[in-house]
Amino acid sequence: MSEDLLTRYERYMNPALARVFRFTGIEAVEDHGRGAVLWDEAGNEYLDCAGGYGVFVQGYQHPRIVARAKQQLDKLALSSRVLESRPAIDLAEKLAQVTPGDLQYSFFCNSGTEAVEGALKFARAATGRSKIVSTQGAFHGKTFGALSVSGRPAYQEPFLPLLPDIERVPYGDIDALRNVVDFGTAAVIVEPIQGEGGIIVPPDDYLPELRNICDTHGALLIADEVQTGIARTGKLFAVEHSRVVPDLLCLAKALGGGIMPIGAIVGRPQAWTFFEHSPLIHTSTFGGNPLACAVAVEALNVTVEEKLADRAASLGKYFLEQLRLLQNQYPRAIREVRGRGLMIGMELAAAGVGGALISELFQRHVLAVYTLNNERVIRLMPSLVVTKEQLDRVLNRLNDALEEIYSDIEDLLE
Ligand SMILES: Cc1ncc(COP(=O)(O)O)c(C=O)c1O
Repeated sequence: MSEDLLTRYERYMNPALARVFRFTGIEAVEDHGRGAVLWDEAGNEYLDCAGGYGVFVQGYQHPRIVARAKQQLDKLALSSRVLESRPAIDLAEKLAQVTPGDLQYSFFCNSGTEAVEGALKFARAATGRSKIVSTQGAFHGKTFGALSVSGRPAYQEPFLPLLPDIERVPYGDIDALRNVVDFGTAAVIVEPIQGEGGIIVPPDDYLPELRNICDTHGALLIADEVQTGIARTGKLFAVEHSRVVPDLLCLAKALGGGIMPIGAIVGRPQAWTFFEHSPLIHTSTFGGNPLACAVAVEALNVTVEEKLADRAASLGKYFLEQLRLLQNQYPRAIREVRGRGLMIGMELAAAGVGGALISELFQRHVLAVYTLNNERVIRLMPSLVVTKEQLDRVLNRLNDALEEIYSDIEDLLE
């Protein structure tokens, strides 16, 4: 980044984060993107494995999605909120078709945290109960409700007290859920694969068992697919791996096709009846705007027609295998490589190893970031339009970066 820009970032935005940019040497200004590649203002090309934390499923600036955005922008970007809006209804219908089971109704908002916020409210209204069960290490967003069910105390402490009646259990532990879900439970909220918690894939029977526990107690199951959603894990929705239908499904990130912010809550009929008492009980001025909804319809069409879920499954399998070979080569640096589809986490021996690796990768023009709630895990989450040849280049550069830091591994492990 030019010193001038970083100084202005420091002066007008976030001085503490500016210091982090300086410390890590990640100083470059993004300029334009295409597919899995991002360019900075100086013309340097980066292979992006951070994927906007899950946003860039269809890649940067997918031509079809950009064209649809331009078309809608010229016609009507925001809704009058008085007349009916065709793109929103088209999107709701499309979501009802592509989501599993009897998920039918959609509410649109503008971000992941808003989708979670709404789902928590819906669960309370639908059940008349207050208790929400969530998991340790979870990340559901940073507004008050979503923060309350997230699992990283450091993000919560300055804002206490948060929502009451939240119980947190270890992720992947079905017995722990059995012990806390009762007839006062409105909902259990889980990510089908924990993203920011460190790319944690639960046991195969976790979601089916959780579904049973919820059904037994009349509690709703909220699947937060803000990060796993839309093809990332090798299925359009990660819950499909275990054939579980949640009562409420939260989406955002990739739904916007890499072009627009949008969030959605998709619900089964029984989770929607509370709207009968007051149709305007939950609203959002910008939510469901024509521009974002038109883009999201096209994003879903592109995802399905380009078979991006299948790409994620096959490229993900290849990438995971190759990364495990690297783990064998650098066992003192890499503890584990895990994930599903192109949602992959590399757990390092210490956070210091991760930090050094991210910097070395950046020097080699590969973008990677650690998971927010687990700094020992680097996420590898490229766009699903990435090519095998691009993944091979990432692997070569990763090998070089690991070789570079390996000589100092003892220091980094401290
Ligand atoms: C699983 C999950 N839920 C919710 C969120 C919050 O989304 P947003 O940052 O759009 O508010 C995130 C963001 O990373 C996420 O990964």
